[in-house]
Parts: sequence; C-alpha cells; structure tokens
Amino acid sequence: MSGADSLAQGKGGERVAIFPGTFDPFTKGHMDLVKRALSFFDRVTISVLHNAKKVTLFTVDERKELVLAALSDVRDRVEVDSFSGLLVDYLKTRGTRAVIRGLRAISDYDYEAQMAIMNRNLSPEVETFFLMSREEYSYISSSLVRQVALLGGDVRKFVAPPVADAMAKKVLAAKE
Ligand code: PNS
Repeated sequence: MSGADSLAQGKGGERVAIFPGTFDPFTKGHMDLVKRALSFFDRVTISVLHNAKKVTLFTVDERKELVLAALSDVRDRVEVDSFSGLLVDYLKTRGTRAVIRGLRAISDYDYEAQMAIMNRNLSPEVETFFLMSREEYSYISSSLVRQVALLGGDVRKFVAPPVADAMAKKVLAAKE
C-alpha cells in the first residue's frame, strides 16, 4: 500500500481528513483551508470541539450550522461533526488518521507543533497536515473577529454572510 493509499480510510476507499477546532466562529481563513484540503482529500469532516469548560459565543449546534452554511458551495464533499475528549480517540471512532490544521504565522508554530507531536505520541498513525490560507486571511483569528463584532465592528470581510448575520444577532441579544 502506498503512503497516499494508506490515507484512504473512509467509506468506499475515500481519503478523508478531519479538520478539528473550536470554530467560534468559523472564519474565511477556515473556509480557505477546507477548500485547500479538498484538493488533496476526497472529503473533509469539520469537527467542532465541545468543551463544557470553555465559554463560547456560539453553542456547538450553532457552530456546526454556521460551518455548513459557510461551505454551501462544497456541501457534497464536507461533513460537520462535533467531538469531546481526546482528538486521537475521536479519530479512531471516525476511522481516519489525517488531521488538517492551519498555520498562519510563526506565532502559531509552537502551539501547533506541540499538539501535532503530542497526538503522534498518543497515536503514532495520526498525521497532521499543515496548510496555509491565503495571505489576506493570515491575520484573521476567531477571537479577534469575536472582539470586533462584540464592539460593534463590521466582520463581513472576515466571515461568510450567514456567520456575520448570526454574530450581529448575538451582539444584539447581548445588549438586550
Ligand atoms: O481551534 P482551536 O481551538 O485551536 O482547536 C484546538 C483543538 C480542538 C484542535 C485542540 O484543542 C484539541 O484537539 N482538543 C482535544 C483535546 C486533545 O486531544 N488534547 C490533546 C492533544 S493536544
């Protein structure tokens, strides 16, 4: 089996990658990464982390819905799921070992390398694929986008229209 073939672990021999994250919210940078991953994998599953200890703007279900809304043009090749606990355990339940993560700048490297190496130690078959989004998205982070929205700024440049609308509703609700 070649290296490429050994990644084919989904249904019907498809190459499936998991893109895990908090996605609070899913940004244009995340959208770009999914589309880049789809040129190497047949399908990408975007898996929203459910962490009861983390305060998030959107619930897991809202985040899942917004991911799907943002990716409507590649809907037939993506799936949205959620997970809690260890990523490596979740990967086993999904029968895949390919993880997609984005690298924006050198500042992301330490955190991402620590996670990738920890995951490899926990489960040696897991491979993390790092992708870089378009330069124009390299300064976007979910936390900055949240901050801008909560302070009344326009986030349409950074997130898909359904995500921007949902953020505007959250901001209004927070003011009531
Ligand atoms: O978008 P984020 O918040 O940077 O994503 C981080 C995520 C969800 C990929 C990471 O926190 C994760 O994998 N959490 C699951 C817990 C886990 O497996 N921890 C050990 C490996 S570092």
